[in-house]
Amino acid sequence: MHIDIHTGLDSPKGNWWLPAHRAEKTWVVIAFAWCMVLFAMMPLWHWKGGQNPSGIRRRVEPAAFYKRTLEFTNQYKVGDDRGMPIVAPPPGADIYLTAMSFQWTPILKLQKGKEYILHLSSLDVNHGFSLYPININFQVVPGYDYGLRVTPNASGDFRIICNEFCGIGHHTMVGRVIVEDSATAPVAAAPGGVQ
Ligand code: CUA
Repeated sequence: MHIDIHTGLDSPKGNWWLPAHRAEKTWVVIAFAWCMVLFAMMPLWHWKGGQNPSGIRRRVEPAAFYKRTLEFTNQYKVGDDRGMPIVAPPPGADIYLTAMSFQWTPILKLQKGKEYILHLSSLDVNHGFSLYPININFQVVPGYDYGLRVTPNASGDFRIICNEFCGIGHHTMVGRVIVEDSATAPVAAAPGGVQ
């Protein structure tokens, strides 16, 4: 009795020179068309997608950025959490968040549905801004002021986690953003105002 066993040692029976079956041709066309759709989505999404950050980028000296952050902090400080200032800027303000090994400063208290221009920069090495549990990620690079138009669309007490390995304390680098519903949120009344 002859048993037709294919061991893998012999080449398979060739048939590649035969014309492709209709179904195969159809699938090649479908796959190609889909590739073209995905290819077109890349530029299309860049212009039409809602995921693009409204980037304002400029060079900045880390020391100057930190100075600006401290001015901002003093101007709108409303309290503190274990020594870390809590800052409640008015809607529309330029707000500053400095990353450094291994902290985010200050704590931002924002109002839901209001727009702010968030400036991000680092004093030392690259850090990663990751808003938890919401999936928003940005590189925070020393020497660059990265401005983002942000409008918080959910209230809550959020954490900023560093998602760029930055050294021995990387895992402890956790910041905080508080978003309140507009009606209940207190705002620093005057520069230097303390609640
Ligand atoms: Cu900062 Cu990791």
